[in-house]
Amino acid sequence: MRLCDKEVSPIGLGTWGMGGGFWTPDYSNDERYVRALRYAYERGIRVFDTAEMYGGGHSEELVGQALREFQEDVVIVSKVWPNHLRYDDLVRSAEASRRRLGVRSIDLYLIHWPNPEVPIGESIRALEDLIDRGVIRCMGVSNFDVRLLQEAMGAARKYEVVADEVEYSVYHREPEAELIPFARRAGVTIIAYSPLGRGQAARDRFLAEIGRKYGKTAIQVALNYLLPNSIPIPKASTKEHIDELLGAVGWALSPEDVEAIRRRYR
Ligand SMILES: NC(=O)c1ccc[n+]([C@@H]2O[C@H](COP(=O)([O-])OP(=O)(O)OC[C@H]3O[C@@H](n4cnc5c(N)ncnc54)[C@H](OP(=O)(O)O)[C@@H]3O)[C@@H](O)[C@H]2O)c1
Repeated sequence: MRLCDKEVSPIGLGTWGMGGGFWTPDYSNDERYVRALRYAYERGIRVFDTAEMYGGGHSEELVGQALREFQEDVVIVSKVWPNHLRYDDLVRSAEASRRRLGVRSIDLYLIHWPNPEVPIGESIRALEDLIDRGVIRCMGVSNFDVRLLQEAMGAARKYEVVADEVEYSVYHREPEAELIPFARRAGVTIIAYSPLGRGQAARDRFLAEIGRKYGKTAIQVALNYLLPNSIPIPKASTKEHIDELLGAVGWALSPEDVEAIRRRYR
């Protein structure tokens, strides 16, 4: 599977909560998170998702600390918050994110949420100029529905919108109706956030029951379900959790079990 001109793993790793919360840094668990991120890399994970908002940028610092020496091998995704979508603000945000990550270029830089106050063309122009300058390598969006995604694609002049990162899990299957078919036709990668239903899948008895047939856990079933349509980016911060996530790859649910999951979670 390719993303932003690199070969990537079928699942990535999210970092929300690593290094703090909503615009607030927390330095108390840095070592633990850097260890977890490195372990994920050692186990073959090649997509890492962060944002300027996560811990007010400290999450990016941790991702950079853990992974910058492997930057040729990984796709680091970061995102600009919707109050920074004006041309100059967006450029400043991207440069600050690149500095915190300590990388030559941010592989994939996304508009975190749409902002109806800022014309999409202005933000796309900033993203394209950032690609020209090598600050970022690829551009994309997050939380854009089909209409907004089309607008963003229509505004792009030189480069493509390569990804849309949206909430997608067995509990949140809305993207299957329109967005996923559209994105497939348009060649836009869907990155699935909160793919474990923010941890809910770990306690899901229905998925656990399905998993028993395959020798898999509920978490692994929840992620496997998403693989044909997306790159899921579950967040995990322990080795045990990361090991479990990796067991989602390399096998497939039967069409009957896929159907059973769809009937259960409409
Ligand atoms: N673009 C956006 O607007 C947006 C919005 C939300 C999220 N995201 C991205 O998507 C990522 C994932 O979403 P999320 O963090 O909201 O939720 P999630 O990945 O659905 O769930 C994360 C939770 O699952 C737990 N977990 C992971 N592996 C587990 C396992 N094997 N057994 C039991 N529990 C396990 C984690 O615990 P531990 O941490 O203890 O391992 C964490 O509490 C985020 O981190 C972020 O990078 C993007």
